[in-house]
Amino acid sequence: MKTELTLYDQTLTLHRFPQRSNETLQAWDAGDEYLITHVASLSLPPNQHILILNDHFGALSCWFSKSHTVTVMSDSFIAHQAIKQNLMANQCPSITLTNTMGSLPSDIDLVLIQVPRNNRHLVWQLTQLRQSLSSDCPVIAVNKAKEIHTSTLQLFSQYLGQTKTSLAWKKHRLIFSYANSKHALPTSTTTCWKVENHPIELTNLPNVYSGEKLDQGARFFLNYLPSDDTLLTAIDLGCGNGVLSVKLGQLNPQVQLTCVDESFMAVESTRLNLLNNLAPGRQFECLVNNCLDGFADNSTQLIICNPPFHQQQAITDHIAWQMFCDAKRVLNQEGKLLVIGNRHLGYDIKLKRLFGKSQVKTVASNAKFVILQAIKQ
Ligand SMILES: C[S@@+](CC[C@H](N)C(=O)[O-])C[C@H]1O[C@@H](n2cnc3c(N)ncnc32)[C@H](O)[C@@H]1O
Repeated sequence: MKTELTLYDQTLTLHRFPQRSNETLQAWDAGDEYLITHVASLSLPPNQHILILNDHFGALSCWFSKSHTVTVMSDSFIAHQAIKQNLMANQCPSITLTNTMGSLPSDIDLVLIQVPRNNRHLVWQLTQLRQSLSSDCPVIAVNKAKEIHTSTLQLFSQYLGQTKTSLAWKKHRLIFSYANSKHALPTSTTTCWKVENHPIELTNLPNVYSGEKLDQGARFFLNYLPSDDTLLTAIDLGCGNGVLSVKLGQLNPQVQLTCVDESFMAVESTRLNLLNNLAPGRQFECLVNNCLDGFADNSTQLIICNPPFHQQQAITDHIAWQMFCDAKRVLNQEGKLLVIGNRHLGYDIKLKRLFGKSQVKTVASNAKFVILQAIKQ
């Protein structure tokens, strides 16, 4: 796996976060290279203020920080950590790093975007740009050519302005746009809906997992969350919109909930949903974090987890594995981990390896999903 990005006689050493000794996934893609080479062809004067949206692991931040003032906005805590780590490793000048709860600066000369996976997130970002950019500020976005549909370009035209695309290079294309649409449409990218058969109403900020409708696995999991008078501490690991936390909190009025996700918008959605669906005065904490980094050992009775199966664009089970290892460390003796997964993912094998064969059992299953329980001894 390559860790050195060399272009125009400059080399950056780049790693994903968290850095793993057996990493197989590269920390940049051809889209980053396409943006860098295209911007080089523009011969920008030095010290331009470049706004970068959704830099994956810091390739763009590191590259452009060398000769420009850089502001990066990303909804991903993992991306923030990777950007900081790679800036430091490459002795880059400092940049301004913001999350999606912040506002955009008003003096931007150029915007570079790694197009996000989720269209509601894209529309939210384009709307923000339309409101804060001057109409002569170029916006250049990149994505895999197969992910740039006519509908993607329509979103750029509708919510930002004049839009055209480049030819494909290494299976990627650039999108060139300006914030000059005649009618900047006021749009709400936050969704709000009720969960069928449960007294739960959810608000979902634009980049939340399954923000349009309930995840099917979560729907099944809701019916098997425990109600237990002796349960005082619980963690929802990878909380998304917080639907599992809300249900667990409703079933266990005495429990103190901690909800963790790597998406700033997910954590904010969970906070809103706990406030709106639980009785006033309930104790809970919502945190952006990488799994359970920094959590005390042996400190929690229950962890519930519907693990992710991708990091940025790559499908991977290493985050699920990290979540299970962290859960084992953070659980009390006799503490319980409840996990839901697609049957074919084989989480039972992982959990048995970690907790011991006799400590893992199936709580429920249907044609698609299985709910597993692992007890720490
Ligand atoms: C399959 S979703 C589950 C969301 C929600 N619990 C549900 O059941 O609908 C997995 C969640 O894990 C979060 N996630 C991904 N990587 C993470 C990490 N390293 N640390 C914490 N959360 C992470 C994702 O942002 C996503 O919200």
